[in-house]
Amino acid sequence: MKQEKINKLLHAMSLDEKIGQLIQLSGEFFSTADISIGPSQKLGISQKMVNLCGSALNVVGAKNVHKIQDEQMKRQPHHIPMLFMSDVIYGFKTIYPIPLGLGCAWNPELVKKAFNSAADEASAAGNQVAFAPMVDVVHDARWGRVLESPGEDPYLNSVYAKSMVEGLQQDLKSKKGQAACVKHFAAYGAIESGREYNSVDMSLSNLFQNYLPPYKAGVNAHAKMIMTSLTTLNGVPSTADKWLLDDLLRKSWNFKGIVISDYASIYELIKHGFAADTTDAALKAINAGVDIDMKSPCYATGLKQLLTDGKLDENKVDQAVLRILKLKNELGLFEDPYYGASEAREKGNILTTDKRLLARKLASQSIVMLKNDHQALPLKKNTKIALIGPYANNRNLIGMWAIHGNPQDTVTILDGIKENTNYVKVAKGTDLCRNKKLLHNLGFLSNESIDKMVSDDKTESKNNQEAIRIASKADTIVLTLGEETYEAGEAGAKTNLELASNQIELLDKLSKLGKKIILILINGRPLVLTNIKDKVDAIIEAWFPGTEGGHAIADILFGKTNPSGRLTMSFPYSSAQEPLYYNHLSTGRPENNSQHVGRFVSKYIDSPAAALYPFGYGLSYGNVLYKNLELSTSHFKCNQVEKISIDVINESDMDREETIQLYIHQYVAKIVQPVKRLVQFQKIFIPAHKRIHVEFQLKPQELAYYDNQGKMCLEGGKYSVYLGMNGGQLLKKDFILLI
Ligand code: GLC
Repeated sequence: MKQEKINKLLHAMSLDEKIGQLIQLSGEFFSTADISIGPSQKLGISQKMVNLCGSALNVVGAKNVHKIQDEQMKRQPHHIPMLFMSDVIYGFKTIYPIPLGLGCAWNPELVKKAFNSAADEASAAGNQVAFAPMVDVVHDARWGRVLESPGEDPYLNSVYAKSMVEGLQQDLKSKKGQAACVKHFAAYGAIESGREYNSVDMSLSNLFQNYLPPYKAGVNAHAKMIMTSLTTLNGVPSTADKWLLDDLLRKSWNFKGIVISDYASIYELIKHGFAADTTDAALKAINAGVDIDMKSPCYATGLKQLLTDGKLDENKVDQAVLRILKLKNELGLFEDPYYGASEAREKGNILTTDKRLLARKLASQSIVMLKNDHQALPLKKNTKIALIGPYANNRNLIGMWAIHGNPQDTVTILDGIKENTNYVKVAKGTDLCRNKKLLHNLGFLSNESIDKMVSDDKTESKNNQEAIRIASKADTIVLTLGEETYEAGEAGAKTNLELASNQIELLDKLSKLGKKIILILINGRPLVLTNIKDKVDAIIEAWFPGTEGGHAIADILFGKTNPSGRLTMSFPYSSAQEPLYYNHLSTGRPENNSQHVGRFVSKYIDSPAAALYPFGYGLSYGNVLYKNLELSTSHFKCNQVEKISIDVINESDMDREETIQLYIHQYVAKIVQPVKRLVQFQKIFIPAHKRIHVEFQLKPQELAYYDNQGKMCLEGGKYSVYLGMNGGQLLKKDFILLI
């Protein structure tokens, strides 16, 4: 439809119709299932406003969407089609690894393909907007939603924001894409003490330097939508923060798309103590720039009165409606309200061989080998394996936010191993979790299901004994431990990052057998492995690896794939170290470089201050050497580029994918700078026994930082360049930037 027809439509719409376009409701309002994840509350919205609702939340399925779209358009005086929006966060039916795992692949191109593939499945099922990518920078593993983020680094998250938005939106025109909705704006990942929905408070230099870049990268990649965070930022709820949503997002970043509130976050302005009632909340949110009210009564019950009382400029509403009509028009919904969705396409499009192969490849690249002593891995074909643990033969490998995925489609770890050896004996060994209180607190499990999940003591002891029995007869123990699906993800904040005590007890018993133990972790956040790492020979961090998890894990175990994953979030020695991140400040008394000795330096007396496994860390099979770090000049001018090069040598018999990470450090700055920060990386393929010469081009603007006015600053002086494979083992050279 031409723009002038859109303008004409807007002027023909009644106030109620306009307000209807700003409301988003979930399935139960359209007599279908409500599969949303969030607090349920009676909204008190009139049927008249439900009939005018402009978008649906988490309603999918070609048949369902056709039916509901037809019904809703009939009710609309101008038959305006609804937008269907859903949480397609790391896959639709083919589920990829959780984004914290995807981040560890350091492969934005492959992740872009995965998001494009997810868009293909979701669009066939009638969805048009994906509430993804979530690109919140995360520093605190106690927060359950670290699962959804690519990690702790603003640059890497920015690279992924771009690739994920582009992947989702690449085929929008051919009705095989998804409009991307970047979330959660802003800095949700900095919630205090890792407690869910807690407040966020920081300096502007920290906000601009470490938290805003990924959202900006999503906007620059032309994301169609931004979702506000449920939290406050410096005392103001993001969902009503005019500075954030209007001054910064729209005026400074020139964002022309739609701003949608998070689930009920407009209503929650009252709970925050920012709005007096639903009408006040509606006024503050619409004036701040929120276009769509997701699942709250505020716009539906408050906007009309504000308009008729002259307290709200109708132009505000018109601008919001126009942005929504514009997206509907861009997607061609006025011509094809179903966006090409059909049952036939849906059936033929999901879980195809190609999609599974992509999921398998990406899952194997997301896996991080944290330990591999005495070359415990890779396993030889037909190794006699005792496969033990609650994840040995368990299809729940897709994580908490794969709401459209089906665990029945998952390849289990047993499935994967059976394809590589004809001797594998299986025993659960112990429950995933035996803490009924914790399981109850997950909020999703009925008492009956909890009773089924927690064996009685006699059964638990029998399970332990069976595990020990089969282990004693095998060459190698593959022990699969981790988190229950709902321990991580939204509302999954917890204070103890160790494995469940019953899992550790089983590991202890098995470790006394003197057999090789390979530990496979299925989890959604960094865990504390300090007390168990020395009891096993190898540790494979597999995250929630997705639909093809079993194949990917077996590919790594048996050496079909050389593990290339590198951590994008720090693993602590202790939960009490959180928040923990690599790009921290030096302090005036740095532990390893202070004029003070002994006690009076920045450290703990009961734990190392560093990470057990740092950002950027991961092992591969075989040995690699980094040599000859060279800079094109030791004094580089502002109008130049600093050429940096290094030789990387694969000394092993196995080909490998190597991620070379480039960090910088600024010695002296008006706002002190981190000990190092990532500015570039390259993931390259190095054949066995080959040497690759790798070059980077560092531009002066990559050295700039933000001050407390949110302004970029570039200062001359001494810098270091660090280059290498692991957050820890880096070569270093210094240069002077001449301003
Ligand atoms: C949730 C989440 C958000 C999600 C939305 C819709 O509360 O915060 O990430 O997209 O509601 O399900």
